[in-house]
Parts: sequence; C-alpha cells; structure tokens
Amino acid sequence: MTQNPTTFALKGAVCFSTDSRHLTCLEDAYLVCQDGRSVGVFPKLPEYFSGIPVRNVSPCLIIPGMTDLHLHAPQYAFHGMYMDLELLDWLNTVTFPEESRYSDPDYAAKAYTIFADDIKKSATTRASVFGTLHVEATELLMDLMEKTGLRTFIGKVNMDRNGSAALQEKSAVVSVRDTVRWLTDTAGKYENVKPILTPRFTPSCTDELMTGLAEIQRTYCLPVQSHLSENRSEIAWVKELCPGTSFYGEAYDQFGLFGGENCPTIMAHCVYSSDAEISLMKKRGIFIAHCPQSNTNLSSGIAPARRYLDEGLHIGLGTDIAGGHSLSMLRAVADAIQVSKLRWRLVDDTLKPLSLEEAFYMATMGGGAFFGKVGSFLEGYEFDALILDDSSLRHPQHLSARERLERLVYLSDDHCITGKYVSGNKIF
Ligand code: GUN
Ligand code: FE
Repeated sequence: MTQNPTTFALKGAVCFSTDSRHLTCLEDAYLVCQDGRSVGVFPKLPEYFSGIPVRNVSPCLIIPGMTDLHLHAPQYAFHGMYMDLELLDWLNTVTFPEESRYSDPDYAAKAYTIFADDIKKSATTRASVFGTLHVEATELLMDLMEKTGLRTFIGKVNMDRNGSAALQEKSAVVSVRDTVRWLTDTAGKYENVKPILTPRFTPSCTDELMTGLAEIQRTYCLPVQSHLSENRSEIAWVKELCPGTSFYGEAYDQFGLFGGENCPTIMAHCVYSSDAEISLMKKRGIFIAHCPQSNTNLSSGIAPARRYLDEGLHIGLGTDIAGGHSLSMLRAVADAIQVSKLRWRLVDDTLKPLSLEEAFYMATMGGGAFFGKVGSFLEGYEFDALILDDSSLRHPQHLSARERLERLVYLSDDHCITGKYVSGNKIF
C-alpha cells in the first residue's frame, strides 16, 4: 500500500450508485479524491483542481469498491469443495473439522496467507470476516489483513456447545476469558482492522456465554455479527433450544445482541425471517448479509432480498465463503439477480427480480453503510475505487459504460481488476 498525494484524480469511464435504484455512468470523466474522500465525478476537471496529479486509466471502468458483508476466512481453504450437504451436516462433517486445524499456528499462517493474498486482489475493499475460536490464529489473520490495506472487521468466533471435541470452547467462562484476551492483545494495534463480536449462531452458544458476550459488547462498544434464519432445520433447532422465544431473532435480542443504536449488527442470510423478525430487524437497524451463492450451494433457500430493500432495511451482499464458493463480489451481484428471478418465478410472484442497479447498490452502498459513508462516489464518500480492465472481453460494437459494467458482472472474474484504492490509499 502506498500513501497517495492528498488530492488526485482518476480518469476513465465511471459507474456508481447514487441510491438503491439509480446508477450514474459517465463515459469519460474525472473522479477526484481529496484527503481520502471523493469530491465527486466531473466530465471535465474543475478549474479549482487544475494541476493535481491525474491517473488516466481510460478506457478502463472505475467503480466503487465492494463490501463483502459476510465470509469465513478459515473456510477459504475448502472453497469450491464438499458442496453436496445441507447446512447442519456440512458444519459437522466439513466445516468444524477444517476449522479445528487453526489450533495449529503454522497451518493458520499458511492458510490465512493464501486468503489475504487472494482477497487483496479481489473486488472487495471492505469486509466483515469470521475467524475461528482460536485467539492466536485470529490475531494472525488480523496481522495479515492489516497489511492488505483493506478495511475489515474480524471476529474471533465464540462457540461453547454443539461443536465437536476438537472445535468447541471448554465453557462459557473460557470463551469469555479468551475473548477478553483477544481484545486486550489487539487493542490499538491496527489501522485497517477492527474487532467484531462473533457468536457463531444460537445453537453454538449457551445462555451463559451470550450473557457474558453482551457484557463484553457493552464494555468495549463492539459491533456484532452472526447467522440468522438460514435453514429450516436450524430454525427448528433454535426453537427447541430457546422455548421462551417466538422467533429466532429473539434468541439474540433477549441478550441485547440484536442491533440497536449502540450495537451495530450484521445478521447473515435471513432466508426464512418471519414478519415479526423482519419488523424487529428494521427497528433495530440490523444489516442483512444476503448470501445468494451460499444459500444455493447449501440448498438453504432464497432470501426475499427485494422485500428487504423495498421495506428500507439495511441489506448488503456476502460471499459466505465457503458456503459460497467464489470470493468474487462481482459474481455475488450476478447471483443475487439470478436467485431473485427464480424466487419470483417459483416462490412469490409479488416480489419482482432485482435489477442490476439494485444488486450493484447492495454490493457497494448497501453493505458499505456498515463502514460509514462507503460505496459511492458521491461527495464525501470514502475513496474506495476499483479499476476494471475489460479489454479481453471483446465486442464488435461500441458499448456504453453501463453495458460494460453489466458484462463485467456476468462475464469476468476478479482478474479484470487492475487497480484498487481504499480510503484514498492505493492498494495496487
Ligand atoms: N451457521 C453457523 N455456522 C455457519 C457457517 O460457518 N456457515 C454458514 N453458512 N452458516 C453457519
Ligand atoms: Fe456464514
């Protein structure tokens, strides 16, 4: 990562969301960065900025960086493998055994180096990441992610029940103690990485642990991430485990771990959320991480992303590596559109499919909002930008910037990304 001059411009074809329905595309424009934030996009460089360094990347496309609102770094080692199971069997037979390997710092170093190298090159500029329950391995992941220059939340996972002999904390007390040790070890250590409290999901955490985590959340003012209403068997299990609750979200809410002003929270999936759950999510300002590829691979179902968007809930996209097999957020945009069409045709014809505009918004501004003013080139937004080279996607006609963006979403993998900035800093 190199520190940029405080004011500079990129010149090229620019596309960005201005809200959930609208994309602004300029064929040949100047995107100006000052002190790490966007000043705006201009057809001509304003007089006021004449003389600033201009990096001309034409004819490449310039778009905002993307936020992966939900993924598991330790699962990257098996992405694209073991796809024939549903959630609970997949956790027990594939995921927990792999995550248990991260008790070995040498293995963690090898695996997390590959993960950090690959996500650095991807379309992702911001992410909220699950580690494992292991303190040392999670700190290693934070060290490696800090060096990428991406801005990330990283969580040491908490799980004190229903794991395996090799992957479960010995008690709530041990889990809480390890969490405090992790927070103390890493306090003030990073510029780009922040901790996020990460109870894996209700079946993994006893009431005693949830109570302890809620106290840590309040003491350290931490954001929270977890899973919610992903799979029918999981929901039935939570109902058994928490007989006093009327829906899954209450299992978090009863401990104060479900959003609200002082507890920014990401809940992954929300495939089967009831009306009552949706209404509480809205009230608490929960960020929904919609993970279409994972929901397909694990045969979980299709989340009503259109409903969440229309009802004004916060919603972004997640790859959910390794439930999802691809680290590409461009691919996640295409997946979100595709599954919304299947849902419309097969499940509920009142919820129209997502447009490119809407899915692109979710990948940029929607998830970006968890990090502040992130995911657009509107004035004042943090300068997170991707440069995309689509010259290998040949075409006999002249294409508009929007057409090129759509083609990149569907046809490219992240190899088309030739440049990346986060908060004005050049990553490559
Ligand atoms: N629920 C609890 N743990 C996990 C996980 O690792 N992946 C997914 N997709 N769902 C979960
Ligand atoms: Fe997940």
